[in-house]
Amino acid sequence: MKIAVIGTGYVGLVTGTCLAETGNEVVCVDIDESKVKRMQGGEVPIYEPHLDVIFERNINAGRLSFTTSLKEGLNHGDIIFLALPTPEDEDGSADLKYVLGVAEDIGKLISEYKVIVDKSTVPVGTSDKVRESIAKNAKCEFDVVSNPEFLREGFAVDDFLKPERIVVGASSERAINLMQKLYKPFVRSGNPVIIMDERSAELTKYAANSFLATKITFMNEIANFCEKVGADVDKVRIGMGTDSRIGKRFLFPGIGYGGSCFPKDVKALHKSGKDAQYDFKILESVIQVNHSQKTILVPKIFSHLGKDLRNKKVAIWGLAFKPETDDIREAPSLYIIEELLKAGASVAAFDPEAMDNVKSRLGDSISFAKSMYEALEGANALVICTEWGVFRNPNFNKVKEHMDQKVIFDGRNLYDITEMRSEGFSYYSIGREDVIM
Ligand code: UDX
Repeated sequence: MKIAVIGTGYVGLVTGTCLAETGNEVVCVDIDESKVKRMQGGEVPIYEPHLDVIFERNINAGRLSFTTSLKEGLNHGDIIFLALPTPEDEDGSADLKYVLGVAEDIGKLISEYKVIVDKSTVPVGTSDKVRESIAKNAKCEFDVVSNPEFLREGFAVDDFLKPERIVVGASSERAINLMQKLYKPFVRSGNPVIIMDERSAELTKYAANSFLATKITFMNEIANFCEKVGADVDKVRIGMGTDSRIGKRFLFPGIGYGGSCFPKDVKALHKSGKDAQYDFKILESVIQVNHSQKTILVPKIFSHLGKDLRNKKVAIWGLAFKPETDDIREAPSLYIIEELLKAGASVAAFDPEAMDNVKSRLGDSISFAKSMYEALEGANALVICTEWGVFRNPNFNKVKEHMDQKVIFDGRNLYDITEMRSEGFSYYSIGREDVIM
């Protein structure tokens, strides 16, 4: 099949590349000329495991190409994916200017039947707005489909190629048939392509992400409560998660959810509720609790090191909002660093992938180490913000040799409390007993 993908951000690039992998001919369109040039030269502009291999393979096979011309993309594709940004507006709602702007251009440029598929996360009712924007100028038939993505950063390729489900919101038989044909190779395992109306599809994405954010936030509150009453959240988590109605996944407490999706989507659903005179009380609480959870370790740091950190050095392990990505959007590390700098601390950080991004944001206000152990040199404390695999089993003798004080604040509960005690560390984590040496 012939596909065009408009927008080569994270979602667009993964979508285009994975659709090419199943034999489709894909043209990706972006307005950023230098990015398009880099991609034409075979460079993947984002870090995502396994993407580079299939990217190269499909370019070499002639199934994947890039252009800055919307017209070229539209002439090529029978199915046109919109994977455009929907940034958070000042009031928390999703800003649709990119999606509707391109929709209007599409109306001016198409001259034969196309299916326009919205992959961006958009508020309920957007498909109607997209349809109206295209219809202003279109001189041919077209259909608009809502097809939300459920890709996790770090696992996006796998999630796209082997999805648990595909949600398609569409009301025309012709468009539904084309979408089913397109996705057939991805659901050979028997996982469903769920067909519904456009509005329900749009809401499914927000509801799924908000539910997961709520699940994490609930566990964060249970963890905070565990600390008050002397319970251990790791035991509670396992006790709860083995009930299949609850499930083991997404029950890990920590220093709050971040990333490009959960924070934005929870706020947008909350705002959509307001617009429809519906007060989402639960989402209001999720937003508040997650905000305070990001700096939950800071009072512990102050109680151990004192509130004046002017002569203290703090090491940070992990800057990305989660492992296997260089994405730092809404990353808890940034909130913690801000508080540490305010208190006068000098901060040295290490992250396997995200240091360049943080350097562009924070400049020289913190230093960046070449290795996880170098970051610890002369440190009065270590704060763990991201659970990268390399941090899970460090050489504790080396850790002790480098640090001035043996203190760890672990925002991801990576280590065993008994082991930390026998290694002689003061060790603070989330929802578990503090070890104070
Ligand atoms: C998420 C959804 O999973 C995906 O379906 C959607 O399309 C986009 O948003 P992503 O943002 O890549 O994907 O990250 P995810 O792995 O879901 O983690 C989100 C956040 O929750 C991270 O900050 C992570 O650290 C946090 N988290 C996750 C927890 O704090 N505890 C958990 O148990 C799981």
